[in-house]
Amino acid sequence: MSTVIANGNEHYGDGDSDGRHAGSRAVAQVDSLPSTLQSLTLSPNGPTQESFTSSCQVMDLFTTAREQGRPLHVSAPMVRYSKLPFRLLLHSYNVDIIYTPMILAHEFIRSPIARDSDFATSPLERQSTRISHGSQQQHALIAQFASSDPTEFARAAELIAPWVDGVDLNCGCPQSWALKEGIGCSLMSSPTLVANMIRAARARLGPSKSVSVKIRIHADLSKTVAWLDEVAKAEPTFITIHGRTRSQRSSTPPDYGAIRTLRERIPVSIPVVVNGDAYTLSDVTTIAAKTGADGVMAARGILENPAMFSHSGVGGTPVECVQRFLGWAVRCPIPFPLVLHHVSEMTGRMKGFGKLERRRLGACRDLIELVDFVDAKWGVQRYCFEADADGVDGG
Ligand SMILES: Cc1cc2nc3c(=O)[nH]c(=O)nc-3n(C[C@H](O)[C@H](O)[C@H](O)COP(=O)(O)O)c2cc1C
Repeated sequence: MSTVIANGNEHYGDGDSDGRHAGSRAVAQVDSLPSTLQSLTLSPNGPTQESFTSSCQVMDLFTTAREQGRPLHVSAPMVRYSKLPFRLLLHSYNVDIIYTPMILAHEFIRSPIARDSDFATSPLERQSTRISHGSQQQHALIAQFASSDPTEFARAAELIAPWVDGVDLNCGCPQSWALKEGIGCSLMSSPTLVANMIRAARARLGPSKSVSVKIRIHADLSKTVAWLDEVAKAEPTFITIHGRTRSQRSSTPPDYGAIRTLRERIPVSIPVVVNGDAYTLSDVTTIAAKTGADGVMAARGILENPAMFSHSGVGGTPVECVQRFLGWAVRCPIPFPLVLHHVSEMTGRMKGFGKLERRRLGACRDLIELVDFVDAKWGVQRYCFEADADGVDGG
């Protein structure tokens, strides 16, 4: 299966166009890194499960956020983009739950090579971050799968479980190839199957890992209500609702009123995360208030401003985001065009970054040229290797 990948949620694909090779290459390269930052291969030579000891309970994160009087902050699954260096960057910016890109479960369970190319992690991803007032912020890592089979989903969940805090089932991918395969949005007409998939994964993982679903709404909201009534019986740990239908483009405003209706319908024991058009911390507050949701998920907003959930990102993407990201990109390699794309996203609306800079950025041919360009533009600034780097703010 190969799909066109574009930077828009109508076109998110499975990453095959570069992901397969890129993943393998990344794993090979990081083997020479210090042991604290080896990329995970699920093969015998990779770091052991013991290197990944620290984990967190997703439900505890919801409780903590509630106690702090704020919605939970969630970075969306993004094919191609929510890979290891980007996820590690988010540890510095007050993000509670961080998703992997969507992974095809049937590929994942097929072979270690497929697993290596689809998923890389590091023990650092399991660490909490020291925040400015001395306390620790935990981050949950959730692997999102596309599947339409309970046994397959449960097996994929079981294989990845030692390295993540939970798994999620994609019920929202609107692409035609996904619909043909019966995955993504097509699951929005099969609530019993989805409930069975949740039960199968839960039975395999036990209570310590979350099992969640990410959905879109139907044009006829009563269908979503009926779907959720059935799926809620399987007790997913939480539910993310993207407030658009499968045929709506990302330029259509999400229907927050619909999400409020659904939130009121779903049992309170199941937290709801709202998704759609969150770009700033003030959007996050407003959207949570409008919908009554327990958490807010951002995709395009966090791609552009990885600091959007923290005080340091209130005025737009901080320069240190770019510098920190490059540090992670050097340490956990991903294909250079991807690094360049992340930096283009982050600098797209940055003050003082005009046409000339954009042209110069686009002319960078490799990571060294890119680091040189960033150093020349903003001065040399290297951030330390640890998850609790200076400058982290928990706000
Ligand atoms: C580049 C890109 C890749 C995406 N990949 C996925 C994915 O792997 N799984 C998924 O459930 N949604 C995916 N989406 C959809 C987003 O998670 C999200 O539901 C959508 O973009 C709406 O959120 P936003 O308005 O904050 O962008 C992707 C979106 C973008 C922009």
